[in-house]
Amino acid sequence: VNYTGFSFPVNCLDRHVHVAPDKVALIWEKDEPGEQVQVTYRELLELTCRLGNTLKRQGVKQGDRVTIYMPPCPLAVASMLACARIGAVHAVVFAGFSAESLADRIRDAQSETVITVNQGLRGGKIIELKKTVDQAVKQCPGVKRVLVSMRTTSKVPMTALDVPLEEVRGCPAILLLLLGKVLALGEMMKEDAYCEPAVMDSEDMLFLLYTSGSTGKPKGLVHSQAGYLLFAALTHKYVFDYQDRDIFGCVADIGWITGHTYVVYGPLCNGGTTVLFESTPVYPNPVERLRINQFYGAPTAIRLLLRYGDEWVKKYDRSSLKMLGSVGEPINKEAWEWYFRVVGETRCPVVDTWWQTETGGICISPRPSNPGAEILPGMAMRPFFGISPSLLDDKGNVLLENDVSGALCISQAWPGMARTIYNDHKRFLKTYLTSYPGFFFTGDGVYRTSEGYYQLTGRLDDTISISGHRLGTAEVENVVNHHVAVAESAVIGYPHEIKGEGKMLSFLPQNISQGYGTAVGSGTGSSAVSTPYSIRLPKTRSGKIMRRVLRKIVEDKANELGDLTTLDDHEAVQQIIEGHKHLV
Ligand code: PRX
Repeated sequence: VNYTGFSFPVNCLDRHVHVAPDKVALIWEKDEPGEQVQVTYRELLELTCRLGNTLKRQGVKQGDRVTIYMPPCPLAVASMLACARIGAVHAVVFAGFSAESLADRIRDAQSETVITVNQGLRGGKIIELKKTVDQAVKQCPGVKRVLVSMRTTSKVPMTALDVPLEEVRGCPAILLLLLGKVLALGEMMKEDAYCEPAVMDSEDMLFLLYTSGSTGKPKGLVHSQAGYLLFAALTHKYVFDYQDRDIFGCVADIGWITGHTYVVYGPLCNGGTTVLFESTPVYPNPVERLRINQFYGAPTAIRLLLRYGDEWVKKYDRSSLKMLGSVGEPINKEAWEWYFRVVGETRCPVVDTWWQTETGGICISPRPSNPGAEILPGMAMRPFFGISPSLLDDKGNVLLENDVSGALCISQAWPGMARTIYNDHKRFLKTYLTSYPGFFFTGDGVYRTSEGYYQLTGRLDDTISISGHRLGTAEVENVVNHHVAVAESAVIGYPHEIKGEGKMLSFLPQNISQGYGTAVGSGTGSSAVSTPYSIRLPKTRSGKIMRRVLRKIVEDKANELGDLTTLDDHEAVQQIIEGHKHLV
């Protein structure tokens, strides 16, 4: 079979179906503890085809945007692949976003089609996803249809726009769930089990993904067909040393880029078996039960686990693990060492992977598949094949030496690079390509060690300047996090009226079980410790600390907090505002 010229799903499905149709493609680790569902390549292809045909019948055409608002489940993966199969552009919106945020994204993408589920489940709690979609769609006159799948057995009110995907005639939905598979019945079942894949240009849009928006209004980054897939597959294979029979466990929601690249596209293009975590994983139980070989997650989770103590991890069998990965924020040395020593029993290399929604896949990472390659704790280490990082100073000079810090830029295009911001190429150029002409500017600070390794130091907009020293928030947080009472911290800087020097504030959760903490303000010379007050850190829904919000509060500009659509916990912010008022 000649697969050249075909689009994604062929690379991710058909060619594996020819070789090993019964190989498990997805293991859906459901929210119900201990429940899992396996979907083979053959089943996933069939589901994708039926859904692709359904989309076509509903009027979705090549190039149309389709918004997917679903929790991680096989049908969500099939929805992404079905869009790709018919040449439509998927725009997955994390199913924790509010109706307003969803509506903003639907309108920005000009989607006429939304795919969702009746309800979601998270930690046993029912989440009314369809209701949220109904509210969002009211603000989006352009939406012509909402495809609704049944995640739970509860009926939800349907509207004229709704297309029930698994309407079961004479067969109660509960039976479907008991069968333990996502069965394609109803609308989808009427469709043919084969859908001819669209032939696409390599530079056509594959998907839009809105960035987490920890700064400013969300941007719909556009990823391309061929380059993105190539980069997803290569990085998945080489960074994690993925082998044919491995079970890959990336604990990211499909609503984020990590979910796109390392839950869906990378592993499936490599014909692998990938785990879809519906809930916050009851780690490390699934590692033992599913025999996960590569575990990939964010340092926040690792730091919290660390505080629970070694025993909690050690009681589970981790012998299947071969590789551990970290992503999304700098991992401090203590957490790295614990991950390496306790979780991975010093047997598994830890890969601290640096990348962004914009880069499509991992750009800087240790390369353990390169035998003997040295890995230092808490460091992303080396550029991936084809990535050429450059460090630039404030004046735009390229820093060629080692043992130097600067703005992390990339000096030549790479396959996985986002091509534009949807409908706003000017903003794309302004944000990424004009600050340092001739370079892609990542917005991150980096230190290149004397050996030439790369260590990320945090967003440049989070930089603190104290006594003339430029410090990345991550660097200070590393020190703070070292204290036994601290699970995580956020360090911010703001101008000091008298000295003109930076002042910093750190928030230190002490009582992990309640997630409360205290705030400590310290000046540059001697420390002035404020009266502690209880807070939770303000985070985006993807778990990133919103330092920008903290900064505004300590600058007494709580009325100028900016765009808070991605903020997870509004009450936490109110508490910090109140607490700050009472600071002495
Ligand atoms: O600041 C960097 C941080 O996360 C940002 C990208 O966020 P997002 O687009 O949401 O993608 C997250 C998952 C790839 C980066 O600009 N970041 C990501 N990985 C690391 C990191 N910071 C330090 N070390 C990392 N390994």
